[in-house]
Amino acid sequence: MDDLSRRRMLITGGALGALGALGAASPARAKSLWTWAPSGSVAGKGAGVDPDWVWDEEADPVLAAVIERGEVAKVNEALRKWTRNDQALPAGLPADLRDFMERARRLPSWADQDKLTAAARFTTKKGIYTGALYGLGSGLMSCAIPREARAVYYSKGGADMKDRIAKTAQLGYDVGDLDAYQPSGGMIVTAVKTRLVHAAVRHLLPQSPGWSGTSGGQTIPISQADIMVTWHSLATFVMSKPIDWGVRISPSESAGYLHVWQVTAHMLGVLDEYIPASWDEANAQSRQVLDPILASTPEGRELTDVLLDLVADLDAGLTRPLINGFTRYTLGNRTGDLIGLDKEPFWQPLISAAWPLLVAFREGLIPLPLIPAGAWTVEEALRKFVLFYLSEGKGPSIEIPDANRPS
Ligand code: HEM
Repeated sequence: MDDLSRRRMLITGGALGALGALGAASPARAKSLWTWAPSGSVAGKGAGVDPDWVWDEEADPVLAAVIERGEVAKVNEALRKWTRNDQALPAGLPADLRDFMERARRLPSWADQDKLTAAARFTTKKGIYTGALYGLGSGLMSCAIPREARAVYYSKGGADMKDRIAKTAQLGYDVGDLDAYQPSGGMIVTAVKTRLVHAAVRHLLPQSPGWSGTSGGQTIPISQADIMVTWHSLATFVMSKPIDWGVRISPSESAGYLHVWQVTAHMLGVLDEYIPASWDEANAQSRQVLDPILASTPEGRELTDVLLDLVADLDAGLTRPLINGFTRYTLGNRTGDLIGLDKEPFWQPLISAAWPLLVAFREGLIPLPLIPAGAWTVEEALRKFVLFYLSEGKGPSIEIPDANRPS
């Protein structure tokens, strides 16, 4: 972090509550009425209750009890040994938690291994796009999602935001693993652990004065609607950009990629009646829940700073201006402004001109000589970023928090 942003963080630290409260009252937070019909979901039917009022009725009481009994450290120690989908649950878990996890680790009856294989094929072939989009698109978009930014900021992990962001970004990459939901993979473990973390956060954050003062009236965080907002910032967004760019994606790869994210939503505890059954339904839901809530918050701008520092730390030749430029190109200037990204008069026009040519070259549509030399700087920087995440970027294991960020 440069000195200026460090100072800005210190100066704004004390004022965050007040500023947050202003942000909460701003019109940008206006939420549209929930009208998305459960007939468009993987369940095909449902009560149609607004998911803003639904949390996780199975996991939440169990994690609240684990925290109240003072068992978090013991549970975390046991769970560190649980890493593979086909592994038995470790010894030493309290009985209520173990029972819940045995149920939660089961894949939904509608999980389709052929589609999951097609999803892995998509990520293998298009990893440069999905990698750059998870890290620099979805990762930075989350800073413009007020509820997510604030929940992350005021939770325990908020005190070490780099670690927190790295772990969440990692999930995007794990979803693309060849064996994500195979016996040898780790996505069932990751998703169930994340479900436990979210349930713990629902118990803890309402006790945080910082969170309660900025939550805009929400009394329990991470509703099912909130999870779907983040889901769209990952799945729906990451599928939409390559399509905009003219990348060729076969119908089976597109369906597979949707499927792996549908399964992931289910494993995170989202009810099937809220999980879109098709990309058309996903796009419709995204327009309703994600687009209207994007807004600027002090917490989100701080998270942006931290995320950009994380990228700079990779020392992958990625200058912050290049990243600003690529992010503005993918997320658009409106979101770029919301999270406080600098405008980049040099990089933005270069990236806007070079990126479509790079895509066309990779898709076999134009020959090499038509690519300007400067375009390779962009390509090389993004490739290094993606490779870092796929190899060394593996973060430490997911831990259940037992407290909020110290105030
Ligand atoms: C923790 C992923 C939705 C807030 C985590 C972790 C992962 C994750 C992998 C564990 C990382 C860690 O140990 O720090 C996801 C995915 C989501 C989602 C894939 C949706 C598809 C949300 C939403 C919110 C949220 C909607 C808030 C509105 C948090 C918080 C933590 C957390 C506060 C705990 C940080 C701590 O340890 O203190 N999430 N998340 N997440 N998530 Fe989510």
